[in-house]
Amino acid sequence: MTRDDSRDANPASDDDSSDSTTVTDGGSAAGADDVALDPWGSSTVSDYRKLFEEFGIESFDEVIDEVPNPHYLMRRGVIFGHRDYRPVAEALREGEDAAVLSGFMPTGDPHIGHKLVFDEIIWHQQAGADAYALIADLEAHSARGLSWDEIDEHARDYLLSLLALGFDPEDGELYRQSTNREVQDLAFELGSNARFAEFEGIYGFDGETSVSHMQSVVTQMADILYPQLEEPKPTVIPVGPDQDPHMRLARDVAARMRSFKVTEAYASFEADAEERDHLAAAYAALSDDTDTVRCEDAADWLDREMAPDAARDAAIDKLRAAGKEPLRPRVRFLDRNATDEAFDALIESIPGEKRRYDEHIDAFDMDRTEAEELARDVEVDHGGYGFLPPSSIYHRFMTGLTGGKMSSSVPASHISLLDDPEDGYDKVKSATTGGRETAEKQRELGGEADECPVYELYAYLLSGDDDEFAAEVYEECVGGERLCGGCKEQAAELMQEFLEEHQEKRAEMVAVLDDLDIDLDSDRQGVPGGEH
Ligand code: TRP
Ligand code: SF4
Repeated sequence: MTRDDSRDANPASDDDSSDSTTVTDGGSAAGADDVALDPWGSSTVSDYRKLFEEFGIESFDEVIDEVPNPHYLMRRGVIFGHRDYRPVAEALREGEDAAVLSGFMPTGDPHIGHKLVFDEIIWHQQAGADAYALIADLEAHSARGLSWDEIDEHARDYLLSLLALGFDPEDGELYRQSTNREVQDLAFELGSNARFAEFEGIYGFDGETSVSHMQSVVTQMADILYPQLEEPKPTVIPVGPDQDPHMRLARDVAARMRSFKVTEAYASFEADAEERDHLAAAYAALSDDTDTVRCEDAADWLDREMAPDAARDAAIDKLRAAGKEPLRPRVRFLDRNATDEAFDALIESIPGEKRRYDEHIDAFDMDRTEAEELARDVEVDHGGYGFLPPSSIYHRFMTGLTGGKMSSSVPASHISLLDDPEDGYDKVKSATTGGRETAEKQRELGGEADECPVYELYAYLLSGDDDEFAAEVYEECVGGERLCGGCKEQAAELMQEFLEEHQEKRAEMVAVLDDLDIDLDSDRQGVPGGEH
């Protein structure tokens, strides 16, 4: 059985209530105002805006216009945030290579929260991306203490639902972590660039954490980068915000694997981004009048024209030290992990004027994008991976039907994709609502659709692609024309229909799944160890 049911990090679980008096569930010490992003804890997100400020997740609104035919979960703000999604959106727009991947820990039945992620994968697949879905069996075994038999059973259920919802297995890949040798090999390589101290900082791991749990983390890093093994491509990982720590680490580790780093520079010395802005300003101002801008003249200019601050002063010092050296824009290739052969090959292949230093090469006749491409090509030709930093999109957690957190371990709080359709109907009928105490008040004040788990069902699932229908429910609710009894009846019927259809499709997919090359009878030995 699950070792610690109270710590539920399923992708749709959350204490989503917006008031600050909410009691968090047993596993978490965080107050409702804290933003706790813990992949194995109880994720509480009381305020999604804080994720933007504190963790640098960007608002999805800012990219949605760049997405071709955005999914309804994007249009309705259910997908609320992203990290670096632009390259993926661009690839989809231009019909270029892209990939989507997500993973599922088979700790219980797949439920309507997981459906969000299934839909996100399928949408990207249909938009042209290579699609991958994996069963995080190593993680379930090592971090959640599930036995291999339990894992096998649940894995089958996740995959059947994913197929039933439209994942095309001919054109996409399904795997489990434990049997994917390439993923394990990649995990081992990535592990060379990840330190225990980081695990302590990011995940709170300590001397009690099992080595297998740590191995499951590098495995997840490998999952995330697996779509780029054959060749680098923009890749999006749709997940709940509790997985963001994994994304940040994966992006870091991917960068550390690179052979070269490309930056812009103005002179032979190194400058950070802010100093560089000053150099750029000086160059722009002085190059109009003279062919050769000298560093010392740029120093004088900054001294005269710019308000003093640490970056300006540092730039001035560096410029003075460089004296008569000409200031000239260039791209710089820094040696990160390159072999001597790769470094030499890079120099060979740089077109136009170039200059070689010990640890870097400056190129004067190419722009940054060309330089990035060249660096990646040379790296890949010399046995490197050339990873692009993986992107992610984040969806809101669903509120439990009983209010508060939706949790796999509380059956009444969620609707499992395996629930008897009539039970699904009943669960919706007895759900908490955002309604007023009396029908009269409801007519007068309108319902609180924004606080209502039943409205969420409409928006996240029951309205499907029909924005008008979702808007109508909302307007009627807040306008007082809709009463909860009828509204729940309608939702319950739609839910029942959805479950009936979904389960029929699941039954059809049994044969499809059996034909796929994925081992659901794992035959592995071993019971999960003690501390995780
Ligand atoms: N850690 C994820 C979870 O808790 C599962 C997972 C494993 C995953 N590998 C992944 C998610 C890669 C996204 C991408 O559910
Ligand atoms: Fe929720 Fe429907 Fe009641 Fe509005 S009318 S509060 S959406 S159940």
